Amino acid sequence: MINLSSIKKKFNNDGYVVIKNFFLENEINKFENSLISVYSKTLKMKIDKKNVHKVISENEKEKNYDLLYDCYKKYKNTLPFKKVSKKLSLVSKKIFNKKFKILNSGMAIGIKNSTRTAYNWHQEHSYYKRLQDTIHYQFPIFGSTSKNNGTMSVLVKSHKLGIIKKLKNIKHSKKSINTYLPTSINKFKKKFKEKFIVMKRRDVCLFHEDIIHKTNKNKLKKIRFVPIIRLKS
Ligand SMILES: [Fe+2]
Repeated sequence: MINLSSIKKKFNNDGYVVIKNFFLENEINKFENSLISVYSKTLKMKIDKKNVHKVISENEKEKNYDLLYDCYKKYKNTLPFKKVSKKLSLVSKKIFNKKFKILNSGMAIGIKNSTRTAYNWHQEHSYYKRLQDTIHYQFPIFGSTSKNNGTMSVLVKSHKLGIIKKLKNIKHSKKSINTYLPTSINKFKKKFKEKFIVMKRRDVCLFHEDIIHKTNKNKLKKIRFVPIIRLKS
C-alpha cells in the first residue's frame, strides 16, 4: 500500500516525490515490448531488448532524426501509455482530491554523449503557460536511472518560486528540443540544492509543474528510456 498523505506532503514540500515499486513488473514489460515492436516496424529491422540500444544510437549517429522522431511519435501513443495514464489519473485523484485528465505523453531518451534530446534547466509550466495545476510523472523502462546514465536532476523546493517569466529559449539546431531556460538560473542554482532522481525499475517520480529540472548527459552505452505522462486537472 502506498501512503498517499506522505506522498502529497513530500510533493508539496520539495516539488517532487519518488514512489517506490509503484508499477507491476508486467506494466513495465508492456512498455518495453511495445517500444521494441514500434521501433522494429518503423526502422524495418529486427530489434530486441539487447540490440535496441545499439540500433538507436547508430541511427542517432547517422543523423536519422526524422526517422527516430517518427518512432517516438508512434510509440508515445501506444496502449501501455493509455492504460498507465488512467492508472495515474486515478491515483492522482486520491492524492490531491481532484480529478485529472491526460494532457499528453512522451519519453525522455538519453543517448550516450548526445545533447540533442537533453533539456537544460526549465520548468514544465513554461511549456504549458495557459494551464494551471498540471502534474508530471516519469519512470524508467529497460533498467534504472542513475547519475551515470543522465537521470533528471531537480532544484529541490524551487517550485515555490511559482512560474518564472524571464526565460531564454535555447535550441541547438532545427531538430533539437528547445529549453526555456530561466535567465536567473545561476541565482536559483545557488539558492536551491540539486538532487539527482535515482529510480529503479517499477518506481515513478511525480513532479510539480514549477520545479526547475534538467536532464543530464548519459555516459553509458545503454540508452536511458523514461516514459513521461502529463496530467491536467
Ligand atoms: Fe521537463
